[in-house]
Amino acid sequence: MNSNAASPAGPASPAGPASPAGEAHGEATATGESVLTLTVMRKEHLADAVVRLTLARPGGGTLPAWTPGAHLDLLFGEGLERQYSLCGDPGDTSSYQVAVLRVDDGRGGSRYVHDELAEGTAVRVRGPRNNFALVPAPAYLFIAGGIGITPIVPMLAEADRRGADWHLLYGGRTRSSMAFAGRLAQRWPGRVRLCPQDEDGMLDLDPVLRSPSPHTAVYCCGPAPLLDAVEQRCRPWPQGALHIERFTPRVREDEGSGTTFVVELARSGRELTVPAGRSVLEAVEEAGVEVLSSCREGTCGTCETTVLGGEPEHRDSLLTPHERAAADVMFLCVSRCRGDRLVLDL
Ligand code: FES
Repeated sequence: MNSNAASPAGPASPAGPASPAGEAHGEATATGESVLTLTVMRKEHLADAVVRLTLARPGGGTLPAWTPGAHLDLLFGEGLERQYSLCGDPGDTSSYQVAVLRVDDGRGGSRYVHDELAEGTAVRVRGPRNNFALVPAPAYLFIAGGIGITPIVPMLAEADRRGADWHLLYGGRTRSSMAFAGRLAQRWPGRVRLCPQDEDGMLDLDPVLRSPSPHTAVYCCGPAPLLDAVEQRCRPWPQGALHIERFTPRVREDEGSGTTFVVELARSGRELTVPAGRSVLEAVEEAGVEVLSSCREGTCGTCETTVLGGEPEHRDSLLTPHERAAADVMFLCVSRCRGDRLVLDL
């Protein structure tokens, strides 16, 4: 996930100053997830309008482990936070790397990274968290659009390490705008196909998705139109074959503000009323119950909560149809209730 590709998460507020440097260890949040203060060790140009940040503990040391597909929350202060996919080597436990596309008309996160975050600056991070994990499969088809390449990069090395048969179809506006393109094509010339739009036109999905394969896992990350096109072509594919990561919320024209329902917090037995137009997350926060959240638009996965009773009305952009049907988790920032009562593990 690279939130400034299209999806920044978190409230739209001006970027505040960077956190003061010097905290070498984690602080625990009220919800138990740790927040680390790291230092921008390196900031480098990666492609047109794309910079890569290398973050590490100021005094060195090991960072929490992660797996390909994971993202990190960068907390810039004053309510501004964004999620960025980790694009480095999971085997390197001394630093994290994220690549950030500058979006001039975005909500400020990428401009903050490009304009304010200098080498030596302290930045608070939370995570890593993985909503886009690489499942075991004999073969993989990776499809990336633009900055959507970032979570895919470590997946390629992992697929290779597993001895899987894999291919990458990678599109971008121009060759110079496509981060990692040269390196990937050079390393895996037979597996990587680069499709700069000004040379080759739009990504041609039909040849690679026309024939469903029971052995191939499809991973796609990029702008919403690409994800929609891939989703549509994967309908005949086996259930669970397609894995996508959305930067922006899925468009749902048929959803209104919802109806009123009751949420029971199982750990305390408290009952809260959630009126139309109010989210479960807001109701829970107002009641003084700490729930971790970040994007508040159903894309980052931070507010995932176990459902013990009732049927959620899923409005997130994360769960697969299969996971939705299981009805055992929901994302409190957007999802609601199909009936009049939900019981949550809170
Ligand atoms: S806060 Fe991001 S999914 Fe709910």
